[in-house]
Amino acid sequence: MRFQELNQIQCKCYLVACEPTRRALIIDPERTYVDRYLAVLAYEGWKLDAIVDTHTHADHLSGGDLLHVLTGAPVVMHDRAPSPRVARHVRDGDFIEVGQERLKVLHTPGHTPDSISLLSDDRVFTGDVLLIGGTGRADFAGGNAGDQYDSITKKLFILPDETLVFPAHDYRGNTVSSIGDEKRHNPRLAGRSRQEYIDLMARIEFPLPSKIQEVLQPNQTAIDDDELKFPSLAQLNEVRQLNARDVYSVLDGEVPPLLVDVRESDEFHGNLGHVPGSQLVPLKELPSRIEELQPYADDHIVLVCRSGVRSTTAAAILTAMGFSNVSNLKGGMLAWNEINLPVER
Ligand SMILES: [Fe+2]
Repeated sequence: MRFQELNQIQCKCYLVACEPTRRALIIDPERTYVDRYLAVLAYEGWKLDAIVDTHTHADHLSGGDLLHVLTGAPVVMHDRAPSPRVARHVRDGDFIEVGQERLKVLHTPGHTPDSISLLSDDRVFTGDVLLIGGTGRADFAGGNAGDQYDSITKKLFILPDETLVFPAHDYRGNTVSSIGDEKRHNPRLAGRSRQEYIDLMARIEFPLPSKIQEVLQPNQTAIDDDELKFPSLAQLNEVRQLNARDVYSVLDGEVPPLLVDVRESDEFHGNLGHVPGSQLVPLKELPSRIEELQPYADDHIVLVCRSGVRSTTAAAILTAMGFSNVSNLKGGMLAWNEINLPVER
């Protein structure tokens, strides 16, 4: 297996390649460096088989979409990734092939719900869940310190001690660690119980990434032009979240809400299907089609998408435009399907 870190900065992008077949895979590409990745691929004669984002990033624009457009390679992410540009969704235990090599997917939520780690024979790419001498923040974008502790201790620390650790970030100039070293010396984790870890993470005051809205929202929605004015974090946090069971029961009530699905058309008709009776207004078209919804400005409107992230954005936008009774289907169609509620395709 050929292996290379391509960014050479604090934010890491890994190339994994199979020599005999000349196939390659890129993990966590940044938009800024797409030209560089293409140059390396061309120089070495690698054919790109897949682009993997270990999670929805909040600190840089993913280069996945652009690399896909330029090379045709599919973007691969966890099932809970909100972006509509993901061509292949993977789950815990799946394999991502690159020539004769393969990487095993470990679902390691905590930094975000869609965080995965990728395991090959001797090394694990840990995204932002486990860092060298640290852990990724767990205080926004669906992060959860308890989940993170479980991911690290139950999925990563059970790997052989000599397994090499390659995280998505390092702020101190390190390039590699090992599972054994992190188990023994990681100051956030060593000797700490789950509750102690949760308490510690709650005490740390992380500054918000400088351009979080400009980065997180395009990575979540695949919309990065000016046609959509993204809501602020505070507006997103205020959106009323209803779980799938609650939405299903109000649909049966006397005044059922209007369901607005903000995914793309192929998702609406895809394998997760849509809630019967829902209306399709892709998030990107929401501003230009607002008049269609205006008659419902004082009615209960429930926004729907794949994982509940894009629809939270849509709900905040509608609320900001004066719609008075807006909710979000928490967990989206993934949650709806999980409890086998009815769908149409
Ligand atoms: Fe991250």
